[in-house]
Amino acid sequence: MIKKFFIRTYGCQMNQYEAGVVSTIMDKAGYIQVNSENDADIIYLITCSVRNHAEQRALGRLNALKRLKKSKPDLIIGILGCMAQNYKDILGTKYGADLVAGPDEYLKLPDMINAFIQSQSSQICTNLTTENYEGIMPKSNNKVSGFISVMRGCNNFCTYCIVPYVRGRERSKSKTQIIKEAEELIKNGIKDITLVGQNVLVWQENNLSFLDLLKAINDLEGFERLRFITSHPKDLTPKHYEVFASLDKFCPHIHLPLQSGSNRILQLMNRGYSKEQYIKKIEMGRKIIPEISFSTDVMVGFPTETEQDFNETLEVIKQLQYDYAYMFKYSERPSTKAFDIEPKVDVKLSQERLIKLIETQNQITEQKSKDLSAKILEVLIESKNSKQSFARTKTNKVVIIEELVEIGTIYQCKIIKVAGWTPIGTIVNNMANN
Ligand code: SAH
Ligand code: SF4
Ligand code: F3S
Repeated sequence: MIKKFFIRTYGCQMNQYEAGVVSTIMDKAGYIQVNSENDADIIYLITCSVRNHAEQRALGRLNALKRLKKSKPDLIIGILGCMAQNYKDILGTKYGADLVAGPDEYLKLPDMINAFIQSQSSQICTNLTTENYEGIMPKSNNKVSGFISVMRGCNNFCTYCIVPYVRGRERSKSKTQIIKEAEELIKNGIKDITLVGQNVLVWQENNLSFLDLLKAINDLEGFERLRFITSHPKDLTPKHYEVFASLDKFCPHIHLPLQSGSNRILQLMNRGYSKEQYIKKIEMGRKIIPEISFSTDVMVGFPTETEQDFNETLEVIKQLQYDYAYMFKYSERPSTKAFDIEPKVDVKLSQERLIKLIETQNQITEQKSKDLSAKILEVLIESKNSKQSFARTKTNKVVIIEELVEIGTIYQCKIIKVAGWTPIGTIVNNMANN
């Protein structure tokens, strides 16, 4: 009997990309992917360990699946991804997962299933290797935009972060494989390609750098937009901006995680830059590429953070005027260095700081959207419902178009109003007809 599998994904773009890798591996082994848990014989949760909240969501789902298994005893539950790596010793025994596969072990999944069926005992594979899944063409349902993972792992060891422990050492995927994946995406009609990795700027192959890779992809024909995420501030130089500016498909948006505006905290976090250096990198970008937009990640309540440290973060946020920001409360991760830094910040105080930070950034985000009023922008149509189309600007802003237009097409649109933070536009003309 052909078995059916279902994948639910948590966490970052890396996991989203790797859901496609798992899909292809299962496909090759003769399994069929389904869109509903109820139809599946095997359910995979691809999990994230970056904050406690992400873990709790996946554990909640695992408990629900275990209840489902009571009425469907042959159901196989697999925990994949960063939590599988982080909790390899207890997910099978204490939490009752049938398969536990870390991020480097997905090629073993078909064998793990067979071994589980034969033995009815949990199969746990969590070696960290240099696996890059070269040769696997990941599946994706997306018709307009696609990811390519260009790096795996991380060597930065920011003191709060679990990623280097659950994803192992940093390594670059080969240019040959990356180009092959880009060509495949283009062949499938993808217009917007995002290169993903924990720190894409340090991609390297022999004497080729990330900028060489970017140029090579930019030169491929048949797609429109090229993005990447994430850039680590310490590795960003003027040379990068100059090359970005020279590439016709480069989308002028950079996600540049700040984390904190206090030099004392940045040092404790092992981020490798000062507030002043960071600010210079943003200013440099705006000088070289005037239309560039920036987004960021910021954290409050890192151990020892004082009111003054927090106020410095607020000041940098106000000064730099990001288009948007992901804002988090520090979440303690056992086995990281920050776990041992004392004193910890009171949870209630962290919550208050987070609210203040979010309010500050929200005002900026709203103003940034309002600034777009009456502007004419180039947008790519990504999806639609029965009344509206949803488009993206090159600077990574979502625009609602109040008419139904063809997905995957680029238009010029005029912003006629702003609802909350969302600019609403009307089509002025189709770029393809110009
Ligand atoms: N490699 C990327 C993303 C890492 S995880 C980078 O370096 O930017 C995404 C974000 O989660 C981080 O930027 C950080 O802001 C946040 N994060 C990581 N560990 C965290 C923790 N222990 N508590 C709260 N937020 C955390
Ligand atoms: Fe985590 Fe820092 Fe690596 Fe980003 S660069 S994944 S925050 S250790
Ligand atoms: Fe989470 Fe792992 Fe990504 S910890 S943020 S899914 S690399």
